Amino acid sequence: CGIIGCVNPDGGTREVLMNGLANLDYRGYDSAGIAVADGGIEVAKREGEIDRLQKQVTARSDTLDGPAGIGHTRWSTHGPPTDANAHPHTDETGDVAVVHNGIIENYQSIRDELEADGVEFVSETDTEVVPHLISKFRDDGADPQTAFRRAVERITGSYALAVVFENHDTIFATRDGSPLVIGVDENAAFLASDVPAFLEYTRDVIYLEDGQFATLRSSGVEVTESDGTSVNPSVTTVEWSADQTAKSGYNHFMAKEIHEQPASLRQCLRGRVNELSGSVSVEELSDIDSPESVQLVACGTSYHAALYVARLFRAHGVPAQAHLASEYVTAPAPFDSDSLLIGITQSGETADTLSALREAQRRGASTLAVTNVVGSTAARECDHVVYIRAGPEIGVAATKTFSSQLATGNLLVEKLCASGTKRTSESTRELIPALRDLPNQLQSVIDNSTAKSVVEEYLDYDAYFFIGRGLHRPVALEGALKFKEITYEHAEGFAAGELKHGPLALVTQRTPIFAVVTGDGERAQKTISNIKEVQARDAPVVAVTDGQSEVRRYANHTLEIPQTHPRIAPVLANTQLQLVAYHMADRMNRSIDKPRNLAKSVTVE
Ligand code: G6P
Repeated sequence: CGIIGCVNPDGGTREVLMNGLANLDYRGYDSAGIAVADGGIEVAKREGEIDRLQKQVTARSDTLDGPAGIGHTRWSTHGPPTDANAHPHTDETGDVAVVHNGIIENYQSIRDELEADGVEFVSETDTEVVPHLISKFRDDGADPQTAFRRAVERITGSYALAVVFENHDTIFATRDGSPLVIGVDENAAFLASDVPAFLEYTRDVIYLEDGQFATLRSSGVEVTESDGTSVNPSVTTVEWSADQTAKSGYNHFMAKEIHEQPASLRQCLRGRVNELSGSVSVEELSDIDSPESVQLVACGTSYHAALYVARLFRAHGVPAQAHLASEYVTAPAPFDSDSLLIGITQSGETADTLSALREAQRRGASTLAVTNVVGSTAARECDHVVYIRAGPEIGVAATKTFSSQLATGNLLVEKLCASGTKRTSESTRELIPALRDLPNQLQSVIDNSTAKSVVEEYLDYDAYFFIGRGLHRPVALEGALKFKEITYEHAEGFAAGELKHGPLALVTQRTPIFAVVTGDGERAQKTISNIKEVQARDAPVVAVTDGQSEVRRYANHTLEIPQTHPRIAPVLANTQLQLVAYHMADRMNRSIDKPRNLAKSVTVE
């Protein structure tokens, strides 16, 4: 879900809210709504995409404008997407309106209690208990701020909450476990789940901490701890421009973000690799010791990056394992005091990953966040943080952040394994020129890719399989994930060697195989044997390969990448598979940037 709020005495609140919702809709988009306090409170909300709400807002006779307002895009957790379940939610009299991101775990018992008192609920959401609770405390004589605090004291779970009251040009907000950031300007104040929501108005932001409360007035923003003590918040100026968050002429954010990879990789590597000394320096990691062992936790695309990074650590002699964050918490692997727990998370807000990190912290582990979002929850909660510096990613399907995660993984491993006894057989000196050349090579992959014409050959097949071995296995898994996310076709990724142990039963002439195979070593030879196995079952093969491999003699089509260091080839190969998924989905007229049922940032477990 996404939250936006604005206090603006000059009016124009409605426009700020609607723009904010449009900028935030990647966070969840099955319904949307706004509430504006202009004397009384006016609410407009709608199931469906933002433009349906826009039509409703435009058609309304009331202004829906005023000095303070809040808005919300919803990705359902309790109750299906309907007009009634859309936020903002109000109390029975409509004197208070609330938007919420997260989950209120004890909502049912509160609802039972309020219903026993005669309160009538109109939605199936967990959120609706909040306005009714506030209203109850108001009836007991509490002022808006106190009523809000008392309501928050009653709820457990994860939440970012923003509230407006009738006859008050103020927003009251708090968070615990869900993101909330405040924007400050001379005569206005903003709040949102994520900075791009209000970037066109201000770049000066305050990151609210878990448990803190904020009061937004046009005269300024007040932050307090949960016990009411005043906080002097630090204001950070964010570097991202509003322009960076727009599509820049591409049809989809995903296309823009695939094409941005040379630039985002340059940004990731800038100042961190020293060609002269042949060394890597990562400022954020200057005070971290080389770990004896490493565990990685992540979800989705970030999990594929974790699989890749774990292999790099192991190649350096450091025991390392990647875990799906949601599974990790069910049975955390044992670690000792010299272990490092690394959470890879683009957003820094994925609930499963945060839970795994917190569980490890509770057990005394040292934690490191690898994230894209400065000031995100993972960044703030972990002992250490490394930023992948990919810039804002709007497309739900992760692309440029994955390549930056892989690049950062290389820096991390070089840095953390350089000191002490753990040296790699593949020396840093060979890697540095490969990293230097990576942005230009990736540009040439994008410029020369034949993915668009190759997908034309494979429309309307039964299923699509992706195989790879070693460092190419995470690429195969990621290739399949990208493909299924945006085409809605059945796609699976397999370790090439595992095919014969089961998946081969699925292979027919109607199941194209995308095989990632580079170099001419033993691994490549074995993958070629696996390719021959599927060809014997008449499956067509598309090989993602470099000039060294003889796979081109067997494949029906090839997608070429330049030769490079074996650790860098996966980044280039993955770009070809991003383009395969993108062009196939585009050809099928899919909702590429906002695939059905998926959200960019999943802040519930
Ligand atoms: C969601 C997104 C995926 C993403 C995953 C992890 O499921 O749809 O694209 O890979 O979350 O997100 P994170 O922000 O933790 O990397």
